[in-house]
Amino acid sequence: MSSLFTPTAAGAIHLPNRIVMAPMTRSRAVQNNAPNALVEEYYAQRASAGLILTEGVATSDTGLGYARTPSIHTPEQVEAWSHVVNAVHAKGGRIAIQLMHVGRIAHPANKAAEARTVAPSAIAAKGAMWTDSQGMQPMPVPEALTTAEVRAIVDEFAQAARNAKEAGFDGIELHSANGYLPNQFLSTNTNQRTDEYGGSPENRIRFVLEVIDAMTAAWEPGRIGIRLSPAGFFNDINDTDANITYPLLATELAKRNLAWLHIVKPNAPTFTEWDAIRANFPGTLIVNLGLTKETGEKLIDSKEADLVSYGSLYIANPDLPERFQSNAPLATPDPTTFYTPGPEGYTTYPPLS
Ligand SMILES: Cc1cc2nc3c(=O)[nH]c(=O)nc-3n(C[C@H](O)[C@H](O)[C@H](O)COP(=O)(O)O)c2cc1C
Repeated sequence: MSSLFTPTAAGAIHLPNRIVMAPMTRSRAVQNNAPNALVEEYYAQRASAGLILTEGVATSDTGLGYARTPSIHTPEQVEAWSHVVNAVHAKGGRIAIQLMHVGRIAHPANKAAEARTVAPSAIAAKGAMWTDSQGMQPMPVPEALTTAEVRAIVDEFAQAARNAKEAGFDGIELHSANGYLPNQFLSTNTNQRTDEYGGSPENRIRFVLEVIDAMTAAWEPGRIGIRLSPAGFFNDINDTDANITYPLLATELAKRNLAWLHIVKPNAPTFTEWDAIRANFPGTLIVNLGLTKETGEKLIDSKEADLVSYGSLYIANPDLPERFQSNAPLATPDPTTFYTPGPEGYTTYPPLS
């Protein structure tokens, strides 16, 4: 039998297989930044995954940046998410919510009128983003957070963790990858702070650790995971200290008995510390990026990963584990419907049978 189908656990969550659905923003939260019946159907279709990780979900209006993306801070949003969780559980699945704050990766046209755009430092991200009202727009210069405001965002994550627990989720993944707020704190080009959250690697990892500690206090460590993209360049990240910061962060995270560490492994020739991350974090490791059934199995067999996650394959193959198990052909996702509202390219990919 393929090693992908050996049962295991991620913290307190029992998993019948090692195939994780990677978190993917799909921009279908068309009303009040809450998931609706279409979102329930989409996740329920994918319930055979060992673990579903939701799209990034904002902890506040300030933490939102993209069009039609969901949050979990109002009672209405918590209730809406509980329906998604129930739909997945009813089909025997497990689902953890990815909590995110976009920081500087935002445009005002995508957020509430009063919501600010904030980041560790007042440095704009190069690049443009889609807005429904104004098309592609450059991202603005964010406001640098005060030290007190940084602490207030840590509290927002703690509240979001309580909300996720109330909604019935099996766990939480902190989105600390791909250039969003936690990653902006970690990285040298986006964090030029002079308080205790900037300067040294120890200070640059402080925000992430405080958020993790606040969330584990709000729930329990065995329900909390984290996603990192060491040395990634996505969203204008250029971290000249990655070889120091990430092994240190892995060591600190290991002390916290987390449910998992989810690593996006980009092709980053200057990053030499993959082995150190594995060595420093003996807990459950999920590995991602461009995997196939075969390369995923290899990572599990060689113990380089405990779980493997699949993103784009999950868009077009709701029954990915069944297809892997029967060596069935895989459908190809259509990128033109990745972020468009409505069912097309979202819930319209059929299972094999
Ligand atoms: C449409 C789309 C949306 C994504 N949104 C998120 C997200 O919300 N959070 C996140 O951590 N990664 C996000 N990603 C990255 C995926 O989780 C994953 O890392 C990436 O697709 C690479 O895995 P793959 O090669 O299996 O597709 C997104 C990817 C895609 C294709």
